[in-house]
Amino acid sequence: MTERVVSGIQQENDSQIDYTLRPKSLKDYIGQTKIVDNLKISIVASKQRNEPLDHTLLYGPPGLGKTTLSTILANEMESPIKITSGPAIERAGDMVSILTRLQKGEILFIDEIHRLNRTVEEILYSAMEDFVVSWMIDKGLKARSMNLPIQPFTLVGATTRFGMVSSPLRDRFGSVYRLNFYDNKSMEMIVKRSIAITNIEADTKGIVEIAKRSRGTPRIANRILRRVRDYAQVKANNKITGIVANEALTKLEVDEIGLDNNDRLLLKSIISNFKGGPVGIDTLATSISEESETIEDVYEPYLIQIGFLERTKKGRIVTEKTYKHLNIKSPKKNSSDQVSLF
Ligand code: ADE
Repeated sequence: MTERVVSGIQQENDSQIDYTLRPKSLKDYIGQTKIVDNLKISIVASKQRNEPLDHTLLYGPPGLGKTTLSTILANEMESPIKITSGPAIERAGDMVSILTRLQKGEILFIDEIHRLNRTVEEILYSAMEDFVVSWMIDKGLKARSMNLPIQPFTLVGATTRFGMVSSPLRDRFGSVYRLNFYDNKSMEMIVKRSIAITNIEADTKGIVEIAKRSRGTPRIANRILRRVRDYAQVKANNKITGIVANEALTKLEVDEIGLDNNDRLLLKSIISNFKGGPVGIDTLATSISEESETIEDVYEPYLIQIGFLERTKKGRIVTEKTYKHLNIKSPKKNSSDQVSLF
């Protein structure tokens, strides 16, 4: 499947631009106000005590700023940061090596922390709790465990799958925050900020149009902004207006609420193949040739947030809103009309 303009997952072309547009301090960070307020207090308190921050778990859909927040935490704490990910740490020895090299107060950011394997994860337990790494040396009869002290550090874990983080690991985080989709006002401010940093010319209507089609996700907004800028450069003298943004996004088949062909295919499949649901996730995934995990992580969170999809015990169902948006007649409406006839 080609890369989606409206996917929150990081794509190859995003990394450079994401980096330049990423806020570096909490004062430049827009939205997620409850989390930001709590973090501000934690930062001041741990600085006053001269201790590292509490281990922090950030979860939520991709593209909302989990990595950004962790680099901001490091900047605010004036600490170094080591960035890695669950699948990248394959063996217990790799984890031991990372932990024993950490400096005092360093932030260890592990993205996709739910994908750590068990033996690697178990090394983290005593490291997080007591700043000690237990490590087996020798084999067979001579095997014994050695406790290596490590520097006090802060683990920042990020995941799109809170439910897949094991409870022993989850319980060792002092703070757990869920990142939510950004509201429209915050998205407009984020787009405005990106426009100012990258010297793009855009009017308010252009900004509003991009913001409202970005699914409450800064990474998507910044990606869309790039595509609309290209369009404006070729077709509209470099100026992004509401009309120009609308034209560019219509060409990319992103509709006025940020749904693309993939979303529409998924929703229409539930309607036409499964009578609106309920349908199990795996059956649905097969019907649109997509992986269940991608549906759960990338498609669903936003469709659920805007009330187009519901997860029930029996499976996924679409709602009246979905029928209305897709301009398809709802069977429910028909049946209730019929009932009212009698
Ligand atoms: N760029 C990406 N995420 C952002 C945020 N939350 N605030 C400001 N700029 C951003």
